[in-house]
Amino acid sequence: KPRIFSGIQPSGGLTLGNYLGALKRFVEKQEEGIETIYCLVDLHAITVWQDPDKLRDNTREAAATFLAAGIDPKRSILFNQSQVAAHAELAWVLNCVARMGWMNRMTQWKDKAGKNRENASVGLFAYPTLMAADILLYHATHVPVGEDQKQHVELTRDIATKFNHDYGVDFFPLPEPVIEGAATRVMSLRDGTKKMSKSDPSDQSRINLTDDPDTIAQKIRKARTDPEPLPESLDGLKDRPEARNLVNIYAALADTTPQSVLDRFGGQGFGVFKPALAELVVEKISPISAEAKRLMADTAEIDRILGEGAQRAEAIAQPILQRAYDIVGFVRSR
Ligand code: TYM
Repeated sequence: KPRIFSGIQPSGGLTLGNYLGALKRFVEKQEEGIETIYCLVDLHAITVWQDPDKLRDNTREAAATFLAAGIDPKRSILFNQSQVAAHAELAWVLNCVARMGWMNRMTQWKDKAGKNRENASVGLFAYPTLMAADILLYHATHVPVGEDQKQHVELTRDIATKFNHDYGVDFFPLPEPVIEGAATRVMSLRDGTKKMSKSDPSDQSRINLTDDPDTIAQKIRKARTDPEPLPESLDGLKDRPEARNLVNIYAALADTTPQSVLDRFGGQGFGVFKPALAELVVEKISPISAEAKRLMADTAEIDRILGEGAQRAEAIAQPILQRAYDIVGFVRSR
């Protein structure tokens, strides 16, 4: 039976990239009636230092945004990772399965640690085994993510395979990354070769889900582009990363394909396309940020939802952790 697990770091406000690459698709999976488990991965967030008050705030705000975007805590499990201790516990076991060489090849580690690896936290290096624990702890079969997380899901498969092999069991199912839609890699508005990211120092590079309509319109108006009109066909976007990015964003928000966006806007300049895109982004994003803001007025209710989600998550995770401990050979006497 399919079971979906995915997570988002509450290490800042969510961006349009998080929305199109993840959250919007989380809602679609829930609507398809699949079992869905969504986690705000606060343990992952502290792999780089977080101000404690901001982390609390960002976790609640991310939860509010999930609810506002259509995650229904009755049909999906929504919780924050640190409330289910089994994540950290299984992660330790998987730390002993994963190999240094595999971890060293992770591009996110290389990007985030940069040249100064000696000064990166051990947690940042071990990040992918915690992510593998998140997924394997639920025997999840499908993991909807943006393009940038594909390598981590593939590593999760390698870790599951090695665990099963080393202990001679058929215990962890191999999860499939699910990378779908027109905007699996939303790019920076300032540089079409860089990913849109909440950690980019320039706020102009991204659209935050909390941006007001004027800010959104201004950021899109100023987004870097080339001077050519939009092409009629996808081939014409090949060497135009900024133009391609804006077309992909439009397609994803309008639930259509990039080609049908070009059918409508091909031959037109950005003077026409950008205002249309800004209007669409505002139309889709503003109701979510307004509703999230409304929900944030009652943080006790948000905390209650996360707590209840954590209990339901734990009920699935705990038996799987216990079986993993048995397989490994730990004495279980209570
Ligand atoms: P995070 O918090 O960086 O991003 C959350 C989700 O948003 C997607 N995403 C994007 N998609 C398209 N374009 C972008 N510019 C963009 N930026 C981010 C990410 O691909 C991701 O799906 N390691 C994960 C969190 C995680 C997780 C997990 C995911 C922890 N445990 C278990 C799945 C399953 C991360 O840092 O995502």
